[in-house]
Amino acid sequence: MEQLLKQIAGYKEEVTSFMASTPDAAEEFRIKWLGTKGLVKTVMSEMKNVPADQRKEFGQVLNEFKLFVEAKYESLKETGQGNAGAGVSDIDWSLPGDPTPVGSRHPLSIVRNQVVSIFSRLGFAVAEGPEIEDDWHNFGAMNLPEDHPARDMQDTFYINRDPAWLLRTHTSSVQARVMEKQKPPIRVICPGRVYRNETISARAHCFFHQVEGLYIDENVSFADLKQTLYFFVQEMFGKDVKIRFRPSYFPFTEPSAEMDISCLICGGSGCNVCKHTGWVEILGSGMVHPKVLENFNIDPEKYTGFAFGMGVERICQLKYRVNDLRLYSQNDIRFLKQFTGAV
Ligand code: PHE
Repeated sequence: MEQLLKQIAGYKEEVTSFMASTPDAAEEFRIKWLGTKGLVKTVMSEMKNVPADQRKEFGQVLNEFKLFVEAKYESLKETGQGNAGAGVSDIDWSLPGDPTPVGSRHPLSIVRNQVVSIFSRLGFAVAEGPEIEDDWHNFGAMNLPEDHPARDMQDTFYINRDPAWLLRTHTSSVQARVMEKQKPPIRVICPGRVYRNETISARAHCFFHQVEGLYIDENVSFADLKQTLYFFVQEMFGKDVKIRFRPSYFPFTEPSAEMDISCLICGGSGCNVCKHTGWVEILGSGMVHPKVLENFNIDPEKYTGFAFGMGVERICQLKYRVNDLRLYSQNDIRFLKQFTGAV
């Protein structure tokens, strides 16, 4: 009797510490303990050797032991460690998972990435620079005379007056930083956020995004500028879109031109977007002014170059027909999620 109780205590310990590491292990456990020749049956059969007056007490111990082993077996099955017979877990691995909600790319990022990708195929590298600039990189080096209206407090956010620290008004400042460090041939585009002190409305904002480009080498001509920008327009808006150049003025380019594309909305026949002209302006461009080259010790007799600058919001407006600039920075999820799926 004493001996039997000891044996059962030992069995209990063994059962308690048993862990199933494979699906088959729970089944092995069942056969060893609960099978027809299992240990539970074996101890049960000892009952006949127990003296009659101890049977009741012993019967309880045995019964409790049996329930204990059965409970252990159930828990082995439940934890997915094994399922008798089939050898598969109770978890249905074929059920679809809970989807993790993902956001969508901002339309301005989508358009910027497209612009960058088109120019990188032409061999342009991407250059970035600081949003807080000094007067030289933003204005001086770009041949903006001291009294140029763009320097006026009305357009520029000054952080400090003397020495001047300001929020860059264009990413030409990055071109300046590139020319400072690199000698021709130079082929870069400069995407980034710029700031101008404008009253916020549907058509103007105090910050927006630009991609400016710079190409300097020997024998670079206006024809190269035209061809490069024509390629860009066709890739960006489609093969049927036409371009035209209008003479313009920028202090850092000479000659300068603004480029229009045929209106994407009406195809050139005239609508509200193109103000019934059939054309919409998309960028400023020109041949780099010799003074700008000289500012960076690039010999204007040997090298020539072209530059251009476009507003990402403008391109985005034309591509996606967004009519209010404020939408880009309001973070309204109903607006932003419409661009899911674009790259
Ligand atoms: N820097 C000009 C602007 O911000 C754009 C531009 C760049 C024009 C290069 C001509 C050449 O408006």
